[in-house]
Amino acid sequence: MGRILVTGAAGFIGSHLTDRLLALGHEVVGVDALTRNYARECKLENLRGAMRSGGFRFVEGDLLRLDLGGLLDGIDAVAHLAGETGVRASWGPGFAVYLDRNVRATERLLEAAVVRGVGRFVHASSSSVYGSDSGRPASEATRRRPASPYGVSKLAAEELVGLYRRERGLSGSVVLRYFTVYGPRQRPEMAFSRFLAAAVEECEVEVYGDGEQVRELTYVSDVAEATVAALEGGGPSPVYNVGSGTRATVNEMIESVRVATGTEVRAVYRPAAPGDARSTWADSGLARRELGYEPRVGLEEGVRTQAEWVLGASLAPSPA
Ligand code: NAD
Ligand code: UGA
Repeated sequence: MGRILVTGAAGFIGSHLTDRLLALGHEVVGVDALTRNYARECKLENLRGAMRSGGFRFVEGDLLRLDLGGLLDGIDAVAHLAGETGVRASWGPGFAVYLDRNVRATERLLEAAVVRGVGRFVHASSSSVYGSDSGRPASEATRRRPASPYGVSKLAAEELVGLYRRERGLSGSVVLRYFTVYGPRQRPEMAFSRFLAAAVEECEVEVYGDGEQVRELTYVSDVAEATVAALEGGGPSPVYNVGSGTRATVNEMIESVRVATGTEVRAVYRPAAPGDARSTWADSGLARRELGYEPRVGLEEGVRTQAEWVLGASLAPSPA
C-alpha cells in the first residue's frame, strides 16, 4: 500500500485510475485544475465515487502554479495524467496551451519529484507520438513521427521523462503510450462520445474524411490496470505501449454504436482533419511480458458499457 498522487484525477482516464487505486486500498491524492476542455461539472461528477472514500483527497489546482514540493510531501508514487488533450485542436494559436499543460507542467512536476525523491513516476503518453503506423504494429522502438502539434507536445513530455530518468536519478519513471481510450466518462469531443450522443438524440454525426481511418481502441479499465501495474513496481523498461489488439475504422465504430443501441446513426462526410493519423496499431507485447498486462474488454462489450453509461440504462448483449 502506498500514497499515490494522480494528476488529472478528475479527467476521463484519471478518474477511473483513481477509483481503481482506491478499490485496491491505496491512498490517493488527486489534483486537477478542472480546465475548460469540457464542463467542470462533468469532471466533478467523474470524482463523485472517489469523494466518498476516506482514502481520497482532492486538490483543485494547476500544476503550473501549485507548490509541487508540498503536493508531493509523503507521496510514494505519481501517475501523471494531467494534460491538454485533443489532437485536432492543437494547430495554430491553441498550441501554447499544449506547451504549457503538456510540456511545462511535466517539467515542473519532474523537478519536484527529483527533489522529493519520489520512487515511481508513471507518465501518460500517447499513440500520437508515432503518427500513422507504417503497415505493421508500432513497437516501443518504432520511429516516432507525430502527425499533430498535440503529438509533438506529448513527444516532448515523454523525452523530458526519459531525460530525468537518465540524468537526474528518477530511475523509477516509466512512460505508457495509451492508444485511443474509450468507455464511460469518455471526453465529450471524442468519437464514441459523439456517436453515442447522436444515437440518443437521433441526429447525424460528422465523419472527418472517408471514415476508413483506423484506430487501435483500448477500453478504459484495461488502461487503468496497465497503469496500476506500472505504479506498483512494473517492469524494467522505460516505455510501454498500452493498446488492446482491437482495431476498427471510424465507419466500423459507427456500426458498433448501431449494434449497441439499435439506432442507426447517419454519417455526414466532411474533409479529413489535419493532424488525424490515418491508422494506429500497437504492439503491446512488452507490456504483456513485463507488466503482466492483459487487455480484457473487447469492442462490443466496451461500446455497450459506454452506451449504458450514456443512456443510464442496461442494454441486452446483441445476439451472436
Ligand atoms: P481529460 O481531459 O479527461 O483529463 C485530463 C485532465 O487534466 C483534465 O481533467 C484537466 O482538467 C487536467 N489538467 C490539464 N492541465 C492541467 C494542469 N496544468 N494542472 C492540473 N490539471 C490539469 O483527458 P483524458 O482523455 O483522461 O487523458 C488523460 C491523459 O492521457 C492525457 O495526458 C492524455 O494526453 C493521455 N492520453 C489519452 C488518450 C485518450 O484516448 N483519452 C490516449 C492517449 C493518451
Ligand atoms: C485519442 C485521444 O483523443 C487523444 O487524447 C489521444 O492522445 C489519442 O487518442 C491517442 O491514442 O494518442 P483520436 O484517436 O483522435 O485521439 O480519438 P477520437 O477523438 O475518438 O477520434 C477517433 C477517430 O474518429 C479520428 O480519426 C477522428 O477524426 C474521428 N472522428 C472523431 C470523427 O470522424 N468525427 C468525430 O466527431 C470525432
